[in-house]
Amino acid sequence: MATTENAPPVGDNLPADGLPSSDEVDESIRLITDNATRIMTWKYDREREQLVSLYNKAMASQWSSVTDLDWAIEVDPEQVVREQTSSTMKIVEQATKIPGSPIASWTDRELNAVGIEFLKASLSQFMHGEQGAMLTAAKIVETVPWIDAKYYASTQTMDEARHTEVFAKYLHEKLGEPYPMSPFLDGQIMALLEDSRWDIAYLGMQIIIESLALAAFGDMLRRTNEPLLKKLLRYVMADEARHVAFGILSLSEYYENLTDAELKERQEFMIDNTLRQQGRSTTPEVWERMGVSPEAVVPFLIQASAEIEVDPSTNFQRYFFAKLVPNTRRLGLLDANDGYLRKAWGEAGLMEFEFADDTASDYEQYDAVAQDRAAAS
Ligand SMILES: [Fe+2]
Ligand SMILES: [Fe+2]
Repeated sequence: MATTENAPPVGDNLPADGLPSSDEVDESIRLITDNATRIMTWKYDREREQLVSLYNKAMASQWSSVTDLDWAIEVDPEQVVREQTSSTMKIVEQATKIPGSPIASWTDRELNAVGIEFLKASLSQFMHGEQGAMLTAAKIVETVPWIDAKYYASTQTMDEARHTEVFAKYLHEKLGEPYPMSPFLDGQIMALLEDSRWDIAYLGMQIIIESLALAAFGDMLRRTNEPLLKKLLRYVMADEARHVAFGILSLSEYYENLTDAELKERQEFMIDNTLRQQGRSTTPEVWERMGVSPEAVVPFLIQASAEIEVDPSTNFQRYFFAKLVPNTRRLGLLDANDGYLRKAWGEAGLMEFEFADDTASDYEQYDAVAQDRAAAS
């Protein structure tokens, strides 16, 4: 994998318990303590028909990272950047026109180079997020009490392994050195992996991060013409939509039986992870790699954004909340505790999406794998 290509072989000198001591932990790995209890069940009856059906679909729509994607396709990163539509690049271009800007002397050459770095930065976060999803799905296998959910989460663990692998391979073979995990994503995923409540891993990953992933992958899919990346994103999204549906079907049942106080905790979690998070899209490392001080360039980017009235997060946020809000409605979390979450999101102007299609209803529309196979036969 690209991120560990030059890393020392962790694991070769481990003590008998298999865990490296703190002075042996280098920056290529992270130790995480999970505080949730594992559950083994003797109830093998298939009681949850919708989960059975989802599991069967997941098995039927498995795809191969080796044979379903054409890795022989030549990717010219400069061409990918030239042909994509990117509001971030529009802002950067505008910032080169502002007198006093640290990038005022930039030509097409530097603009193209920073475009490639932004693409690598996005795909790097996708890769790290996918590994987080793989670990979270494995945690759900271990901690969810229901056999049907354990079966489903096992297929998801495989899906997420494939997603991590394809983003890592695309970066390594087609683009170059990836970026480290952003502190925002790192904090969000580590908290889920450590949490003692099994449903919080579900809520954070299946509902919030997977809805975010659908919006981010969909955004990149619309903006790019590169055929390998397009197909890879379509196939990953086919799986992700099913993962969100899995979260909705499982949690809507579980949340029916929680107390108001327990539901309030989940509502607070949703608010914390949507309204109280700032700065998720800052990418200082991109500027550092370009030899530009992030602190020096950011004021000019803000000015450029205002001048051309382009905010790169607007469309993305709309796609995200257009999925997240109806998905949350299905969980019953909007109206618990006298509409506590409805009020908070309403004040942020998000309730217009309440009756958009939720992902448990529309996930099959994303199944590009089934669509391609039907077309081929
Ligand atoms: Fe994924
Ligand atoms: Fe996923």
